Amino acid sequence: MPELERAKQTETETAAAGGRYFLRFTREQRYMHAALFTSFLGLAATGLPMRFSESFWARRFATGVGGFGAILFLHKFFAVVLTIAFALHVKEIVQRGLINREKGIFWGPTSMVANWKDVKDVFGHMRWFLGLGPRPQFDRYAYWEKFDYWAVFWGMIVIGFSGYAMWFAPFFAHFLPGWALNAVLVIHSEEALLAVLFIFSIHFVNTHLRPDSFPMDMVIFTGVESEEEFKHKRTLEYERNSQRGELEKKVGIAPPLWLVNFSKIVGFTAIFIGLTLLVLTLTAYFS
Ligand code: HEM
Repeated sequence: MPELERAKQTETETAAAGGRYFLRFTREQRYMHAALFTSFLGLAATGLPMRFSESFWARRFATGVGGFGAILFLHKFFAVVLTIAFALHVKEIVQRGLINREKGIFWGPTSMVANWKDVKDVFGHMRWFLGLGPRPQFDRYAYWEKFDYWAVFWGMIVIGFSGYAMWFAPFFAHFLPGWALNAVLVIHSEEALLAVLFIFSIHFVNTHLRPDSFPMDMVIFTGVESEEEFKHKRTLEYERNSQRGELEKKVGIAPPLWLVNFSKIVGFTAIFIGLTLLVLTLTAYFS
């Protein structure tokens, strides 16, 4: 059998074995996440050597890429990529929520905005962890996913504003007093540390390393999840769509094998770089 046909047959068999798949993220959302995590990794990998410039790994890295000037240049490059991604995301929210008046963007079970159910879920989850109650059922976004989202959203504003204030200090000096221009370095530096610690520990554990998703949740790369995953992880969303007869609209195609393998390589590389940066940061911080 020719190579191509065999590959196609394998893909079809994989899909058949896995049952139905449901769309969770659009292609644009997946590209947005890719731009976000590559630029964030780039910013962390170039920002941390500037902060811990005395450590041996920072000096090695600087020698390798052509000095600290080159590191700063790369940092600014990734900052522009992240800013564009963030601006496109804000544009999408405004377009969908305010201009198209799409329901469920700012409030309700499909919104990223936290509600009373999230508060109850936090306590319900704690009770379940301790074996004192049933496992809470989640909707489109669980409370920890909303927390991750807002931590990055808020962090982006703080880190972006302070970064640009340093980059264009003479311009910002028209509006800010001198002490504020000194403060932005401290704010940027500390917020960066917080972001690195948060993303490379809590976000990684929340999304990829918890038992439900271990060793990696592929949905942000492939855009689809199996019916079993959908039912188990987002039971309320599954049931609502099912009751309204809207489940069929969400049926997607099984991810081809090449995409699954490609996602695994990209995902594990990102996790590896992140954890390496986390270890280097912690050792430099405490030494
Ligand atoms: C729009 C986003 C960002 C912009 C415009 C930006 C810009 C800058 C600039 C201009 C510097 C100054 C370096 C200097 O001249 O001494 C800097 C330093 C730094 N950046 Fe960023 N940055 C951004 C995002 C980030 C992110 C997301 C991280 C971490 C993940 C980060 C980590 C750092 C660190 C650790 C330093 C060194 C601070 C120090 O010396 O203590 N930056 N950044």
